[in-house]
Amino acid sequence: MAKADITEEMIFQCFAAACQSDDMAKTAESFVDVEEYENRVMYPEFARWASSAGYPELATLFRKVAGEEKLHAVWLRALYSDIGVPQRGEDTQRAIDALETIRANCDELIAMNPEGVVEKALEVAIRVEEREYRDIYPRFRDQALAANDADTAEVYQKVIDSEREHALWFEAALVNFRTQQQSQSQVSV
Ligand SMILES: [Fe+2]
Ligand SMILES: [Fe+2]
Repeated sequence: MAKADITEEMIFQCFAAACQSDDMAKTAESFVDVEEYENRVMYPEFARWASSAGYPELATLFRKVAGEEKLHAVWLRALYSDIGVPQRGEDTQRAIDALETIRANCDELIAMNPEGVVEKALEVAIRVEEREYRDIYPRFRDQALAANDADTAEVYQKVIDSEREHALWFEAALVNFRTQQQSQSQVSV
């Protein structure tokens, strides 16, 4: 029987999408829930994979981005002081479950194909950041603008700019990673 492989789609299941609601406070709660999930769970797990696959610089990048996701939540919490512990969103719970499933056989997969796992984690990270800065958070910003809430709109715009930067960092890291792989395979031929 073929050994289980990890696909990009499997890793993409670790992405939790923040959910817009008619109630802006609920939108904010979902945003905080997702950003804190990325801070505490998703990116630290990607960092762990990169580290055990032997790519400490990529682990550092994942941890750096994780730290900024925390900041995003902090910026919005400053405007919505009563969020407290956000209610766990359905999509976040689904993402956590997906991540647990991967974690169960991840170490074995990393041992089998360390480069494959790391490359896919980077591809997924780019997709996550792109979804956020191109689609999800502009809608949140526009909702705040429509409600004449300039402070909230400003925070979402700051987040959009930051997520775009994350996408660019991950894209550069992926290009670099592939170049390294190519030069290594040429050396080993
Ligand atoms: Fe974020
Ligand atoms: Fe981000």
